[in-house]
Amino acid sequence: MSIYAVCTPGLEPALAEELEELLDRPVHVRAGGVEVEGDLVDAAGLCLWSRCAAKILVVLGEVHAASLQQLEQEVRKLDWSDVLHPGQKVVVKVAGRGRIKHHDAVAKKVGFALGDSLRASAQPVGPGRGKRGAKRGSAAPKHRGQLRRPRTNHPPITLQVRLDERVARLSLDAGGLLHKRGYRQATAKAPIRENLAACILRMAGWRPGVPLVDPMCGAGTFSIEAAMRSNDIAPSFDPPPVTGLPGFPEGAWATMLKEAKQAQGIDTDIPILTADRDPGACKATQENAVRAGVHIAPARKDISAAFERTLEGVGLVVLNPPYGVRVADNVKLAPLYHKIGGALRAQFPGWRVVMVCPDKALAGRVAKMEELVRFKNGGISVGVFVGEL
Ligand SMILES: C[S@@+](CC[C@H](N)C(=O)[O-])C[C@H]1O[C@@H](n2cnc3c(N)ncnc32)[C@H](O)[C@@H]1O
Repeated sequence: MSIYAVCTPGLEPALAEELEELLDRPVHVRAGGVEVEGDLVDAAGLCLWSRCAAKILVVLGEVHAASLQQLEQEVRKLDWSDVLHPGQKVVVKVAGRGRIKHHDAVAKKVGFALGDSLRASAQPVGPGRGKRGAKRGSAAPKHRGQLRRPRTNHPPITLQVRLDERVARLSLDAGGLLHKRGYRQATAKAPIRENLAACILRMAGWRPGVPLVDPMCGAGTFSIEAAMRSNDIAPSFDPPPVTGLPGFPEGAWATMLKEAKQAQGIDTDIPILTADRDPGACKATQENAVRAGVHIAPARKDISAAFERTLEGVGLVVLNPPYGVRVADNVKLAPLYHKIGGALRAQFPGWRVVMVCPDKALAGRVAKMEELVRFKNGGISVGVFVGEL
């Protein structure tokens, strides 16, 4: 069985490094993700521990999909009773480009085929009112709805169908959207996704113990992600849907959860300085940090004012300043970036800096920068720049 961890294209190196650390086995970098051998328990472990993945998929296999009919037949041929519970709700999502162009039609066909297979594997529960109106007590008709759907408490799971020319890759989404850790209920302007922040910190070479400065923290995502990693706090303790599948060993999730809770530290003296000039952002950061189980006390100050406290050694400054959509917006922002560069050089000379911003010229106002990677954030193409102050 293999696991496919999904990430934003360009950020695969960070995810690959993290997965290697977590699973201690070789990983294979693909476009937009990382593949690794593993079972359902490994998939649940990655949902619990991966800070960089956007999703964890359990790959079921590939089937022929030159036409809708062929795909439907292939899906019907598979033994789903090993994989899903009878009556379990399955959401079918389709992606990729294949011979079959219409994703909606694929979702419908696969959904029907799957529904029939799961009903066929269910135990009859006596005649009932089927979808097509069979009356209680009447002879059960031999069509869909012949078997009453058994009640199930199993959480819904998403089946992902990825089309690629004449094949479709079928995977189960083990944990849903992993960037939704649950702590970021208070937001500030343009927050960065939690897993993107984790990837960016990794790609910039930040590790627990390295001093970190986050002077325009917004909702605090970078600081909180760094503090959680420093204290070995799992990104989310919610049970991922994969733990409810028939093949998932009983008790395994409870054990993983117990170990995760025992592993977490309570260090409140992590070398992180956090600030924002906006009081609302500082409040949001503090509230989010409490929910995440870490201690962050943001200073309310403009970038040009010095921090009251300093950190020992040389570390990393992480920046996600305001940026615009149009070139003209970014021209207007040039003085702010110039000010950021001057202020940071004065207080953190020789430190490494990593910055998320759309425009290389703008980033260059802060320091001499190299573009590590470019990706889309909220529909805008942004670069991740690194340099030295
Ligand atoms: C794009 S947001 C940061 C989002 C953050 N990465 C997050 O995940 O929530 C930019 C932040 O910079 C702050 N900011 C703008 N100008 C500033 C300045 N001169 N000094 C300090 N903070 C500033 C804003 O208040 C805003 O919270």
